[in-house]
Amino acid sequence: MEFWVINIFALLILSHLAIKVYFQQTPVVFHHMAPNSTKQTIIPIKDTRHLIVSAYKDHRTHGEIRVISIIERDQLSPLLCVVYCKEQGYFITTANVDIHSDHFGFPFVTADMLCKTKPRCSATHVTISTSPYISEISSMPYLPIKNKNKVDKNFQYNFTTCISNLFGGYNNVLQFVQTIEMYKILGIEKVYIYNTSCGPDLQKVLQYYKEEGTVEVEPWPIDQFLVSSKGWKFPERKPDLHNYGQLTTLNDCIYKNMYRSRYILLNDIEEIIVPYQHATLGLLIENLQRQNPSVSVFLIENHIFPKTVFDTNGTFSLPQWKKVPGVNILEHIYREPDRDYVFNPTKMIVNPREIVRTSVHSVLKNYGDTLSVPSDICKVIHVGEPVQGNLMIEQLIVDTKLWEYEKELLPNSDHVLKNSGVCS
Ligand SMILES: *[C@@H]1O[C@H](CO)[C@@H](O)[C@H](O)[C@H]1NC(C)=O
Ligand SMILES: *[C@@H]1O[C@H](CO)[C@@H](O)[C@H](O)[C@H]1NC(C)=O
Ligand SMILES: *[C@@H]1O[C@H](CO)[C@@H](O)[C@H](O)[C@H]1NC(C)=O
Repeated sequence: MEFWVINIFALLILSHLAIKVYFQQTPVVFHHMAPNSTKQTIIPIKDTRHLIVSAYKDHRTHGEIRVISIIERDQLSPLLCVVYCKEQGYFITTANVDIHSDHFGFPFVTADMLCKTKPRCSATHVTISTSPYISEISSMPYLPIKNKNKVDKNFQYNFTTCISNLFGGYNNVLQFVQTIEMYKILGIEKVYIYNTSCGPDLQKVLQYYKEEGTVEVEPWPIDQFLVSSKGWKFPERKPDLHNYGQLTTLNDCIYKNMYRSRYILLNDIEEIIVPYQHATLGLLIENLQRQNPSVSVFLIENHIFPKTVFDTNGTFSLPQWKKVPGVNILEHIYREPDRDYVFNPTKMIVNPREIVRTSVHSVLKNYGDTLSVPSDICKVIHVGEPVQGNLMIEQLIVDTKLWEYEKELLPNSDHVLKNSGVCS
């Protein structure tokens, strides 16, 4: 009780704010001007090290508001949602913090802060606060609430890929361009990339694809707030967070594209989800979905094509690509074999409207069913570090699947490298 008494007291003092107070399902309501949305992409919650990233209305749970966040697990003091409704003004409720289960042992973890709304409230803005004092409410940075309208069909895109973060001056341009061009050939219309930092040539290519409309670059300055691990390895300084907040960006990307894209692919930039029996992802999914109408998560096996092993004939060792930084995926046609007793990790194609929370290799919570797609139907082609580095070339499997796309892939990649200014 004391808590709300303080609130009312604060209200009375700040007479310019205090117009109306009443108690219904929610404790405090008062009118004031609508807030402006903040321009920042990562916002610290005052007096804590928690961060909030974005806010989405969830039509599957009575329009509650989900604030995607990164929280310090062992510093969980009570948090408050401050919601602005067009009709009633601001109101404050307790934030229901739902911590994602996969924190990999790091102190900071992805979480959803769930905020209840009121009947007849068109909520437009939200923020998270530790303080119930109204004097602070109008000066806090507010997130705009997205996904206000539900869409059931006629999505803007059929396939969108969410790429987790670019960091550490990443400059693997040749593989990047070949990969994006493969995505386009396979039917992917949009690629979301969260950018912490990138190399000089990749910067040119990202600018090119932004203008072309293929790539959306989301600023992701997480390194200004937290120390990140690189992959699974721990750097010198004790890290706060796994992999530059990859799990947070993947969840944000799903919600951002929930009503824009029929399907979302979740994979890294060095991976391509390739159908082995269909010409495009559209044909593959149409087939799989018709046979399995209840499935919302398609798991695709990852297969390593070691970047250390080259096509001995040099078939696609082309002169124009020699001076472009990065890996030429067409030169790596040797695939590591499956191992007994080892499951290949998976990446995913999902129906975002059925996803609640995701991790990297599997979904943590979804409506609908999950299907493991057999690897003769579809594989993740992952040209990268070997996993079974002890194998001789004779023990690897020749797989020239990507060569089937050379007629489009070669000229399209050359066009981008030239017009982005990477190749003169
Ligand atoms: C998406 O796929 C459907 C069915 O294959 C097709 O009719 C439609 O034109 C596609 N939409 C876009 C935006 O490509
Ligand atoms: C990527 O992030 C870096 C660091 O913030 C920035 O300098 C660069 O302009 C960004 N690139 C794009 C294409 O947005
Ligand atoms: C490499 O060249 C040899 C001889 O022409 C040929 O038999 C073999 O199939 C080629 N390998 C690939 C992967 O193209």
